[in-house]
Amino acid sequence: MKTTSPSKISRAISASYPNSSQPAILIDGAAKTYGDVEAVRPLSLAIESGETVALLGPSGSGKTTLLSMIAGELEPSKGSIHLRGRDLAALHPGRELSREVGMIHQQYDLVPNLSSLQNVLAGRLGDWSLFKSVVSLVWPRDRQVGMNALERVGVSDRARVRAGFLSGGEQQRVAVARLLVQDPAIIVADEPVSSLDPARAEEVMGILTESALLAGKTLVATVHSAEVARTYFGRLIGLRNGEREFDLPAHLVTDEQLDALYALEGLRDE
Ligand SMILES: Nc1ncnc2c1ncn2[C@@H]1O[C@H](COP(=O)(O)OP(=O)(O)O)[C@@H](O)[C@H]1O
Ligand SMILES: [Mg+2]
Repeated sequence: MKTTSPSKISRAISASYPNSSQPAILIDGAAKTYGDVEAVRPLSLAIESGETVALLGPSGSGKTTLLSMIAGELEPSKGSIHLRGRDLAALHPGRELSREVGMIHQQYDLVPNLSSLQNVLAGRLGDWSLFKSVVSLVWPRDRQVGMNALERVGVSDRARVRAGFLSGGEQQRVAVARLLVQDPAIIVADEPVSSLDPARAEEVMGILTESALLAGKTLVATVHSAEVARTYFGRLIGLRNGEREFDLPAHLVTDEQLDALYALEGLRDE
């Protein structure tokens, strides 16, 4: 009879259960270039599990590029990224990747002709093509999970409305609900509140950061407003011309540092 050696088993277990003592995100010399443009220059940093990190910086500073690399949607030109101890490049795209990390995009890419609830339930599958083929077969239990998420972000009354008919603010809430249902360890959000008026922006950012904190998730988001960043996030990273200008606990970032980050002089031409 063939037996499996204990070491083999423990290797298999550690491959399927990430090591919780590892940082949630470990960026090791990761960089991205487009032709001559160094969108993100070689960057190394660690983000611990449960941290809430705001990325700040002027337009073109590399924020979206960096988030897309962390979300596994864009491959670094060099360097590597590990999520909870596992090389991102080795994660299976689809369900394996979607358990680790989920991204809310600047344009929140809901499917306009599906209802809010159906869009949210798609987060459960982590795979659009699969979702589209089984959309009519969703289990009642899953429906309840989806409804709870919509409730959580305050739009359960819009569950049956097609996403295309929702206001910008409602779409952003549904995108947050979808991510809550996907339930990844790491949430990456690219300007999730940029198209909202200040009061609503603050509300949605509050929902996102509170949900992340309550569920022990790691959150990395780009935020336009330095005030919102300081209020809702524990750590601020300033990017300029693809380089890190500062990386500090939120309460230690000074107005001078913020002014310098957004100053027009010295910005590369786009
Ligand atoms: N697909 C692309 N092709 C060529 N250049 C790009 C591409 N995406 C981004 N860039 C360039 O990389 C730099 C960083 O862009 P981006 O990450 O979108 O910055 P941000 O999100 O901070 O505005 C900019 O100079 C931008 O023009
Ligand atoms: Mg951007």
